Amino acid sequence: MLLHIDSVLTPEEAGAYRSALERADWVDGRVTAGYQSARTKHNMQMPEDHPLSRELSGRVVAAIERSPLFMGAALPHRVFPPLFNRYEGGQSFGTHVDNAVRQTSATGERIRTDLSATLFLTSPEDYDGGELMIEDTYGTQSVKLPAGHMVLYPATSLHHVRPVTRGTRISSFFWIQSMIRSDAQRTILFDLDMAVQRLAAESPEHPSAVQLTGIYHNLIRMWAEI
Ligand code: NI
Repeated sequence: MLLHIDSVLTPEEAGAYRSALERADWVDGRVTAGYQSARTKHNMQMPEDHPLSRELSGRVVAAIERSPLFMGAALPHRVFPPLFNRYEGGQSFGTHVDNAVRQTSATGERIRTDLSATLFLTSPEDYDGGELMIEDTYGTQSVKLPAGHMVLYPATSLHHVRPVTRGTRISSFFWIQSMIRSDAQRTILFDLDMAVQRLAAESPEHPSAVQLTGIYHNLIRMWAEI
């Protein structure tokens, strides 16, 4: 499932993060790339242990955890501390798949990457190109969202970032280990959650609302790995 989560940050917050990041020191993005993707990765990245990365990373995690849509769709178990990247002057990232397991530099904790996320920090009108192209069962999706909006997609997907031919594209990117490993099971739970919420809002007294909520939790009990 590919999901657009709007307003994770307000435009003002996204702008403040972006201006702080623009003034910081960046390094070659190949520092976190695997052997294969290093050949096609052309961008800049904030070092993971930079104090600004750490601070903004914590704020991004706090913001996504306040989003009911994110929590319902990702059913997160662990979140990899968000990183920050920057593309300009024709930089791009060729087709690749993200590593299956990531280790955080801070704690050494290993996270299985079930879901990938990109939180856009630059407004689309401020740069040309830079679309995140995600190969999905419905074909290739082109994603370029307003500042503060996020895309969540299965980390199993092949994807690439088109060259940024004008301006600078700054984003946060990270991975989530879900309590529900299977994308198909997670999608069923998300659909059920949405349907139960609609029923509970439209007919709060309907006895099926409680029963369906029970089924939702029982499926999580059956499938969750924590
Ligand atoms: Ni990637």
